[in-house]
Amino acid sequence: MSRVPTNRRDFLKVLGLAAAGGAVACPGPGEPGPAPTPDPTPVPPGTKVRRDVNSLDPDGPEITAYKMGVQAMKGRPDANPLGWVAQARIHLDWCPHGNWFFLPWHRAYLYYFEQVCRAASGDQNFTLPYWNWTANPQIPAAFWGQGNPLFNSTRTAGPNSTASPEFVGQTVVDGILAINDFELFASSQASQQRQRTGTGRLEGTPHNYVHGFVGGEMGTFWSPLDPIFWLHHANVDRLWATWNESHANTTDLGWLNFTFQGNFVDTSGSPVDVQVEDVLSTVQLGYRYDTQPETIGPESLLLVSAGTVRETVAAETRGAAVFGREPLSVPLAPDTALHDKIRALTAPQGERPRATLRLAVEGVDVPEDPRTAVRVFLNCDYLSPDTPIDDPHYVGTFTFFHDPDAPHEGHVSKGSYLFNAAETLRKLRQQGQYQPGAPVQVQVIPVPLDGDPGLESVASQAVAPSGFSLSYVEYR
Ligand code: C2O
Repeated sequence: MSRVPTNRRDFLKVLGLAAAGGAVACPGPGEPGPAPTPDPTPVPPGTKVRRDVNSLDPDGPEITAYKMGVQAMKGRPDANPLGWVAQARIHLDWCPHGNWFFLPWHRAYLYYFEQVCRAASGDQNFTLPYWNWTANPQIPAAFWGQGNPLFNSTRTAGPNSTASPEFVGQTVVDGILAINDFELFASSQASQQRQRTGTGRLEGTPHNYVHGFVGGEMGTFWSPLDPIFWLHHANVDRLWATWNESHANTTDLGWLNFTFQGNFVDTSGSPVDVQVEDVLSTVQLGYRYDTQPETIGPESLLLVSAGTVRETVAAETRGAAVFGREPLSVPLAPDTALHDKIRALTAPQGERPRATLRLAVEGVDVPEDPRTAVRVFLNCDYLSPDTPIDDPHYVGTFTFFHDPDAPHEGHVSKGSYLFNAAETLRKLRQQGQYQPGAPVQVQVIPVPLDGDPGLESVASQAVAPSGFSLSYVEYR
């Protein structure tokens, strides 16, 4: 594992805080923990605030500015890099999904879009609002109505459709914000922008789901054509910033030094390069969310939580799970070393190791109809499509996001989905339904997204992961 000891110093330099001096020195490799931290610093004056769309007056200045900006951008020719279609095409051409570039890429995408849209709106105060689908699970009222620039006629959701708490509920979001393992939170290590290695919880559950829930163009890689896209991603970005208040990102140089080359354009329409390291702080980028504190707590930036995989057990599945039938169930038999670790990790009380048990559902093809959700359970003898998600054996649900028409490589490749198995095993152990030492039965069962009955008739709705694995991941 590598570190970037200059990261924080550069960050302070940008904020003009380098004079805060010695108290914030970074630990070098091998040195123990954080140095004494200074008092939190107020964010610089002029930091713009991205607000909850549901707290804004639909006829007020913020929404009006967004409408003006979108309208102006839609009026530009398709080839104009500052136009609506060209901005959406950036996503089609470049967006990384199913790997750890997902969060920084979309943050940079929003950052440049916001500037282009601000200029187009003529309102220098414009900031992108965010759509908190947990608190307000319906598409906001300001996005409806023929002739409204924020309306998109391809949506399958209507003004009264409600996003399911199985994907966007408070319990799901709280669980995601409590994840300690960076890749489990933010998607997996990759060396190429569009390599699908593993989809983390934030991307695989609420993020993917909301694309499919809104539907139409939002369900495809042309999703930025729907003005709600930008507010959806602002919320994803906000959750990353929230997670960073108490968890650090990976310090792997393959992530920090990765450059998105010429993917985005500035307000003059010229391509720009963005390095992951440039987008780690919203305040450094000139904005914060209204839910973020008005001070910068430097201590979280000193934490190092990059996970290190210690022990793994894997098995091939050789089968498929099909709608409305038996679940696909495969036993994983950890060796003694892994069992010992699981025993410590699932201890009912006392000190637990700083570690996670990462469960990967591997090599999953997007089903014929991507409006399919896949529930994951452990050790459940009676599992059926009706088993409720508050059952103690339940681990989580993932869903798909892809563009069936995209000619590009990588859009339909098989992906893996990551979960935290430690929580479920701990619960089962407490209830006497799991003994460390016994094999762990991993189970998946596909269900129609939002209980859509139309999908039941699609005979081929099969989900066939190539394998499952369970890895003990230590972090510091
Ligand atoms: Cu790259 Cu939510 O899309």
